[in-house]
Amino acid sequence: MANKEVDYLPMATHIAGAMWGDEGKGKIASGEAENARLVIRGTGGANAGHSVVYKGNKIGLHLVPGGITNPNAICLIGQGVAFDPILFLKELEELEKYEIPNLGERIKISGRAPVVFPYHKDMDELYERAKDKPVGTTRRGIGPTYSDYDNRFALRVYDLLLPPYELAGKIGVAAKILNILFAAFDMDECIINPESLAEEFHKYGEVLRPMIVNGDRITRWARQNGYKVIIEGAQAYRLDKNYGDYPNVTSSNCVTAGALIGSHLNHKDLDKVILVSKAYASRVGNGPFPTELMAHIENDKVIPYEKPFAGDVIREEGHEYGVSTGRPRRCGWADAVILKSAGEAEGADFQCINHLDTIGKIGQILGEIKVCVAYVYQGEQIDFYPDDIELTKETPTPIYETLKGGWEISSDLRDYDKLPDLAKKFVSIIEDVSGIPVKYLGVGPKNQDMIVRS
Ligand code: IMO
Ligand code: MG
Repeated sequence: MANKEVDYLPMATHIAGAMWGDEGKGKIASGEAENARLVIRGTGGANAGHSVVYKGNKIGLHLVPGGITNPNAICLIGQGVAFDPILFLKELEELEKYEIPNLGERIKISGRAPVVFPYHKDMDELYERAKDKPVGTTRRGIGPTYSDYDNRFALRVYDLLLPPYELAGKIGVAAKILNILFAAFDMDECIINPESLAEEFHKYGEVLRPMIVNGDRITRWARQNGYKVIIEGAQAYRLDKNYGDYPNVTSSNCVTAGALIGSHLNHKDLDKVILVSKAYASRVGNGPFPTELMAHIENDKVIPYEKPFAGDVIREEGHEYGVSTGRPRRCGWADAVILKSAGEAEGADFQCINHLDTIGKIGQILGEIKVCVAYVYQGEQIDFYPDDIELTKETPTPIYETLKGGWEISSDLRDYDKLPDLAKKFVSIIEDVSGIPVKYLGVGPKNQDMIVRS
């Protein structure tokens, strides 16, 4: 007898980050979500910062999926998300200002998601302080929340629905362990008081109660009805805790395989993967960045300068400042070698390249645009991202293909054939080196400012 439960078509699209985050995943996710019934965030937490445009307003989202701008979409914060109730409720309050229909009914939170408490942010600080070379985390408590989860004393969203004394008992286990560390690091102001925290978080639980669900039932509903599902990726290939530049990574598996688990989906649900990058590269936090260009940044701040370096030009033209933390981003040229390796790890079907308009302007200012097409590493030419940089202490040296000049394109342009020849050449270099067809090209800030190639 056919198993009805598995007799269905794949329906989920993963919007995957190709580099170090901030590729514009939110924009394509909310565009793709226009005809989706379910949009899911499955990894990370408030370390993500995704901007979407709703009725002319730019909205910065951290936990709520970008699909919220589609009034027909259910938005699920999945079991893989490090869920921060305080930030979530702030975000909800902010969203309410924009009069988006049925917000409360459309946002669902998996009861199984681990909860971020204020002490996780303190632990994030503590771990960073203890390291000779800090990761440069977002200090949103992401790593410590996941590590409590792995050690099986994290609290899950369901726990917020417990009576306060039971909740305090669970927080008490974390307090027993973590308070020793806070005391040892002279962080007495961070000492956890389980009772008062339980009282506060129980109140959040009561507000969240109508949104807390078994996420499995929602993905089953989408599957059985053949609804389109979008997994809005957070973070990216090079921040994945296994594939990325360990230890300069985030603490989750944010590639497709991890995003599926975090989203309550199985591998047969996956229809396609769209790999998202920008026409240049950016990174926040520490860690290797082969195509990075000089910029006036020190300790996560822009320092005064008279003449900009190339990295300053890209940052300013692309408005490359963190949505979550406001930190200026390190910037550099596009890296098609990373895209090739990302495509392999993510199982990419298509690419989306954002900021094609911006790189054109940058080319006009700097007189040239470069794309990394291979690396020299350990004396050899290679076409993949090496995984032993920590050991060799050598950042791969990019081999570039250079285009002279730049271009200007209107955000209204929708016809690929009407792009300037130089822009087409840029796209074809990336396509050839990465081996992944470029289907979407962002040409402006709005969701619809996108060229879609057939
Ligand atoms: P979106 O989804 C950019 C980076 C941090 C830091 C490292 C570890 O907006 O693309 P964490 O706080 O996760 O422990 O920090 O990962 N990072 C991101 N950088 N965009 C993100 O998300 C990021 N999420 C984490 O800057 O280097
Ligand atoms: Mg971001």
